[in-house]
Amino acid sequence: MPKKTFTVTSALPYANGPLHIGHIAGAYLPADIFVRYQKSISNDVIFICGSDEHGAAITIQAKKDNISPQKIIDKYHEMNKKSFSEFGIDFSIYDRTSSELHHQTAKEIFSTLEEKNVFTKKTSEQFYDEKNKQFLADRYIIGECPKCNSNDAYGDQCEKCGSALSPDELINPKSTLSGEIPILKETTHWYLPMQKHEKWLKEWLNEGIVDGKNTHDPKTWRSQVIGQCKSWVDGGLKERAMTRDLDWGVQVPIKDALGKVLYVWLDAPIGYISATIKLAQEKKLDWEKYWKHGTSEVIHFIGKDNIVFHCIIFPIILKELGGYNLPTNVPANEFLNLEGRKLSTSKKWAIWLHEYLTDFEDKQDPLRYALCSTAPENKDTDFTWKDFQARNNNELVAIFGNFINRVVVLTHKYWQGKVPETHNLSSEDQEILKKLALFPTQISLSIEKYKFKEALSEVINLARMGNKFLAETEPWKLIKTDIERTKTIMNIAIQISGTLAIVCEPFLPFTSKKLFNILNLSPVNWSEAGKSFIKNNHEINQGTHLFSKIEDEEIEFQLNKLKN
Ligand code: 2FM
Ligand code: ZN
Repeated sequence: MPKKTFTVTSALPYANGPLHIGHIAGAYLPADIFVRYQKSISNDVIFICGSDEHGAAITIQAKKDNISPQKIIDKYHEMNKKSFSEFGIDFSIYDRTSSELHHQTAKEIFSTLEEKNVFTKKTSEQFYDEKNKQFLADRYIIGECPKCNSNDAYGDQCEKCGSALSPDELINPKSTLSGEIPILKETTHWYLPMQKHEKWLKEWLNEGIVDGKNTHDPKTWRSQVIGQCKSWVDGGLKERAMTRDLDWGVQVPIKDALGKVLYVWLDAPIGYISATIKLAQEKKLDWEKYWKHGTSEVIHFIGKDNIVFHCIIFPIILKELGGYNLPTNVPANEFLNLEGRKLSTSKKWAIWLHEYLTDFEDKQDPLRYALCSTAPENKDTDFTWKDFQARNNNELVAIFGNFINRVVVLTHKYWQGKVPETHNLSSEDQEILKKLALFPTQISLSIEKYKFKEALSEVINLARMGNKFLAETEPWKLIKTDIERTKTIMNIAIQISGTLAIVCEPFLPFTSKKLFNILNLSPVNWSEAGKSFIKNNHEINQGTHLFSKIEDEEIEFQLNKLKN
């Protein structure tokens, strides 16, 4: 099969605070699994992310902490970059939207759109905070959502129901800076008339067709993503301002637009493109291959609160620019809760990734495992410390780790670590080898359908099958009566271990590396998985434990930390 090209993006996190497990489960871990898998089947894939450093999220945080926005972004950019890397989220680039190249790229794109008359320029009255002498948009204004009546909808979006809003739609709007009721004042902005795009958006979302060309199969999209998009488009789109009266952001590249910056939701997704350009400069690649002329599949991994921006606004921008690929999928996740409550940075109800990495040194994979197993792929789900402990102890340690440990110990005990040869295969052996061969395909199919939970459960099922095979055949007893049969059984168990090392890699990269070391092999391509690729007489290393038990005290400590 010819190689495919993928441009995988994960939502650029705001550099206004540390990352928590909700972020990881939503947009980063699933993308990393997808990317690692695509690499292991030799596809060409770039994985793009970076800090989102503009917008009210940053300036409001800076104001709260009484420091400059620059200090905030510098602190959290480095911190988040480090946490991602330590957690094994293997971006091709982790860029930032405050970079020179990003500002230049975003300005060029704005100018191109302006030249193509994509925007309408309009002067109107907007909310203004007299005390703080500032126009209020986005997170600067809060009020009741006209769609779901949630009391804390922002001026650009209600986070409860996901609706895109404009400040004038809010019921009882208030300034988040002063808490005061704003006055109205005239200002000029550049608007994107989204209503003009309803027809092609419907065709693209419903049928995967743009300009008469098939771009993707909409049946492969998650139903809740398609559902949300359709309900917005069917409900009628409105124009939306693409500029803001702020002093923090990408300046509007027009002479009479002094003191105005691009709307953060115009500039941030352009960050995917500018980061690709930067990566291409560093690696001497052709960036256009990843974004233009249908040469690449663009996949956006995001949380559900970002759907409208990635499935409606950004596609409109890309279509208007011309030549750009629209996303072939946006596998948005729902939300992850923590111990039955909504994760919240402000209420400090979270597990911070950097703290986890300090408290549980070298235990990246148990968290990756738990987060993938409880991933909110189709509905909101709940992370609990007890469940985390149970998954580690009862699945990773008791099934996966135990199986590998038995394989390594017995191979060393009987044959000094040398892989024994098979003799006559019994019908059970043939059955096991047949099943082994089917696992990689099953796991591939699930990953390709963005069903990472399902894929991971097949990985653990493979370890389970290995464990059961040993428990039933009892090679530790058989060795006394039938050496040839014992050799056959252990050879098969070693082959299962080899396949496990390959197929667990996207999910548990640290474990995969350890396991390849134990097996004394360099990483093996996915195409070998399911086959008996470990040669007779090959010498494996002594085992180190792949996983270790998590004790009740550790969990109690974390629960107390959370509650206090
Ligand atoms: O919701 C957020 O955290 C945004 N910073 C995501 C931006 S995604 C992309 F458009 F850059
Ligand atoms: Zn709402």
